[in-house]
Amino acid sequence: MYRSNTCGELRLADAGKEVTLAGWVQRVRKMGGMTFADIRDRYGITQVVFNDDLDAELNEQANHLGREYVVQVTGKVAERSSKNPNLPTGDIELIASKLRVLNPSEVPPFTIEDDTDGGDDIRMKYRYLDLRRGAVRRNIELRHRMTMEVRRYLDSKGFLEIETPMLVGSTPEGARDFVVPSRMNQGQFYALPQSPQTLKQLLMVSGMDRYFQIVKCFRDEDLRADRQPEFTQIDCEMSFVEQDDIINLFEGMAKHLFKELRGVELTEPFQRMPWADAMRLYGSDKPDLRFGMEFVELMDVLKGSGFSVFDNAAYIGGINAKGAASYTRKQLDQLTEFVKRPQIGAKGMVYARVEPDGTVKSSVDKFYSQEKLQELKKAMNAEPGDLILILSGDDAMRTRKQLCELRLEMGNQLGLRDKNKFACLWVVDFPMFEWSEEEQRLMAMHHPFTHPKDEDIPLLDTKPEEVRADAYDMVVNGVEVGGGSIRIHDSELQAKMFEILGFTPEKAQEQFGFLMNAFKYGAPPHGGLAYGLDRWVSLFAGLDSIRDCIAFPKNNSGRDVMLDAPAPLDQKQLDELSIAIVQPEK
Ligand code: AMO
Repeated sequence: MYRSNTCGELRLADAGKEVTLAGWVQRVRKMGGMTFADIRDRYGITQVVFNDDLDAELNEQANHLGREYVVQVTGKVAERSSKNPNLPTGDIELIASKLRVLNPSEVPPFTIEDDTDGGDDIRMKYRYLDLRRGAVRRNIELRHRMTMEVRRYLDSKGFLEIETPMLVGSTPEGARDFVVPSRMNQGQFYALPQSPQTLKQLLMVSGMDRYFQIVKCFRDEDLRADRQPEFTQIDCEMSFVEQDDIINLFEGMAKHLFKELRGVELTEPFQRMPWADAMRLYGSDKPDLRFGMEFVELMDVLKGSGFSVFDNAAYIGGINAKGAASYTRKQLDQLTEFVKRPQIGAKGMVYARVEPDGTVKSSVDKFYSQEKLQELKKAMNAEPGDLILILSGDDAMRTRKQLCELRLEMGNQLGLRDKNKFACLWVVDFPMFEWSEEEQRLMAMHHPFTHPKDEDIPLLDTKPEEVRADAYDMVVNGVEVGGGSIRIHDSELQAKMFEILGFTPEKAQEQFGFLMNAFKYGAPPHGGLAYGLDRWVSLFAGLDSIRDCIAFPKNNSGRDVMLDAPAPLDQKQLDELSIAIVQPEK
């Protein structure tokens, strides 16, 4: 028997017991004739004492312990004289009578404690050591508990967990694929799934009725804090349902997760906001509703007073930062610099303060009378002490997105984005298509299998850009945590959709023939959704990046620095696959 207890479980009630622990040496301290060692395992940390007076040889042995040695210690549990209220085991210590080094360790490259001295790169290179730190391990534990709760909830609702293949065909819509060469079919490639979208639809044709899978998905896209090239979806599909059925069931799942994992009871139905309102009021399809600061369009108020920037603008919008009139000139200049950063791209920012006496002082006073500025104050619903921030531009959508960044930044600066507060909503009625400048054609905003709203189907022939879809996203605190849609189950409508997306019938048949053919054999009405597991876990754990809840994540350039992947292949392997590498021109 290696151990009788874990390092996290002994309490005062165990005092007097003889126990054996096994774990890693986190830290050794020598104090006079005593040596203290903190022994750590997944469950916690226990202080072990070696006493020179009791056993000089044992104490000498303990003096040679180094950080991260793997040890086995036997001894008696005793009440501590100086208790540590920050540790669950802080009331006791183990008076050692036996010590066995199971494996020594080299000095680790960084300190393995909650507050580490290790930078990002070194911790990623030695991720297996980083995972020993409680702060990281707790995220992995939360992830486990979440997947267990997801399975429990979906099982209780009659869902079947079904695996779909990882080696599939490449599909043109969406992000870039990761591809895998086939040795047995030379010159041909599999693709790793971006999501099991078409396969889960086929499972509905098979009559599986309710499917789910906690599944790895792969997308070769630029990385951000909430994006990894491989990530995990809680992927679901249901037959004989309408949008409301899906929304209700998965809202129920979200509430279940909040309750079980965060102890938060959400009793009210989540707000539902049409996409067009989200864009108009927040400049984003994933608004953070932990705070208001909605956009107010100011074209009527501010145009035509001789300020050419506004006079020539296609959009002028303002936000009211309540109580921020005390912002100094320096802070306002910094905000202007913020919106002018290339990632945001605004040309400048106009501000107006409401003074204690109700008058308005703005950065463009010479163009606007006090009377006009009072009109602005009224439009912005502003009071003394408020700060109005205004952006304008010649492209309404782009300006709204800039104003969105400014709103979020003000939310941060004014402390309105508390990580322990949760604002959940459904964004609904997404447009069916969006124009792609790169491809010079309409693209499916969600994916080509999304059902248009019944009442908008006639517009498919006349004004496709105005067609709305039965598509919905769940947004929590400004993060898109999931999305889905009702699907097309009629092969004619599906063929029409491909036509609008610019596929010839032959091309559509080649790419999606398997799905269109399947739909000829009795496809039930169906729809579904996928939640982003990594995003849910990081939301619940209060993380800034989903990386921290993934055991072995990739860095920002898509590399696994621990495995040193991707890497070149041996010539032999390339030859087997008939692949020749053409060096890109420098
Ligand atoms: P979608 O592309 O919206 O939908 O993805 C669903 C959810 O997956 C998460 N997600 C990601 N998480 C981390 N890294 C990424 N690169 C990444 N990309 C997406 C998000 C997102 O909301 N087949 C459809 C779902 C459906 O219609 O049923 C799909 O994949 O949380």
